[in-house]
Amino acid sequence: MSSPQDITLDEVYERYRSKRPKSAAADGEARKVMPGGNTRSVLHFEPFPFRVATAEGPHLVDVDGNQYVDLLGNYTAGLLGHSPTAVRQAVSAALETGFSLGATHTVEIEAARLLTERFPSLEQVRFTNSGTEANLMALALAKHHTGRERILAFRNGYHGGVLAFAPESSPMNVPHDFVVIPFNDFEATSDAFATAPDEIAAVIVEPVQGGGGCIPAAPGFLAELRQLCDQNGSILIFDEVMTSRLAPGGAQELMSVLPDLTTLGKYLAGGLTFGAFGGRADLLSAFDPQLGGALSQAGTFNNNILSMTAVVATLTQVLTPEVIRTVNERGDRLRESLNEIFEANDCQFQATGVGSMTAIHAEEPALELFFHAMLDKGWYIARRGFIALSLEISDDLIDAFLSTVRTWASR
Ligand SMILES: Cc1ncc(COP(=O)(O)O)c(C=O)c1O
Repeated sequence: MSSPQDITLDEVYERYRSKRPKSAAADGEARKVMPGGNTRSVLHFEPFPFRVATAEGPHLVDVDGNQYVDLLGNYTAGLLGHSPTAVRQAVSAALETGFSLGATHTVEIEAARLLTERFPSLEQVRFTNSGTEANLMALALAKHHTGRERILAFRNGYHGGVLAFAPESSPMNVPHDFVVIPFNDFEATSDAFATAPDEIAAVIVEPVQGGGGCIPAAPGFLAELRQLCDQNGSILIFDEVMTSRLAPGGAQELMSVLPDLTTLGKYLAGGLTFGAFGGRADLLSAFDPQLGGALSQAGTFNNNILSMTAVVATLTQVLTPEVIRTVNERGDRLRESLNEIFEANDCQFQATGVGSMTAIHAEEPALELFFHAMLDKGWYIARRGFIALSLEISDDLIDAFLSTVRTWASR
């Protein structure tokens, strides 16, 4: 392979700019009213992100008419695609029957029932508006239940913008008493418990670190956490906001370890805003006013009828166990083939992940150059190399992407 340095970033950016005058102008307008021109920091990349005009099937089309196959899948929230028919029809019907209620309704019961039936550790569930909120609620519940303050989290873990440890703890983090240790480090984990056996309220862990680069828990690591939590009276929280898509019953089913609490989000409302936390009914009962529950969970839009309706449509009409298995098998094939190509061409690139979640790793600026090379050929992945397959990505599209990568790698 010729050196990726044979084309400079300046040249790459110039080529990108020249094809996107309308996105450039929109970026200028956006910067006047939103710092950095965006309101979701991860969407920024240099020299400016393209602005989407329409999305159909597997494609995004930007305001300049450039078309991209969307391999990013909205960072896992877009599992069903950009505008899945079943969800669109169900939500359209809900729009006709009133959508700003401020009261309980029956759709949320069905959504909760479907989730508890699907994920093995979920006896009961409550809804939020995002994965971040779900994690904040789960942590608050664990602290309340145990009467303890300390929370064990893992380096490179990501549980939301205010619960971010990737790679360093974010200055935006909520001020919990976090102890952050390396992921998959058995010794550091048992040391953390040994030094403060009665102090750890909760361990929060992604069964596969998503934002941290699609790194799965090492064999036995989750079981070890389960055991340590049991021995020390701590609550084990699985953040399955991303990983619940990896098997019909989530990563907890795939990896055969059940947490006390699970948090969910992303794709489960078919692409609409969503979050949930749930698990052991005896823990969740803290929210039951009839049992004298001490906790109250606010949230104007927690049971909003559009998201609740979308959850029901997603789980009853789209995400059958077979569909989940197929998309994850496709992801395994993609990752294995990428690594074959990288190896055969002596690239210092590596793909990691599980099922439909993949991260491509490389040094900088090689990764930036790769990202732009793919964009230039009409493939959209995350700037950091993240890929989350949607149901719209067929085997043929995977083959076409692999062929683009092969050509790029063998230059
Ligand atoms: C594992 C994990 N937890 C929580 C979150 C936060 O979810 P949200 O962006 O819906 O707040 C994310 C978002 O990427 C995530 O990947």
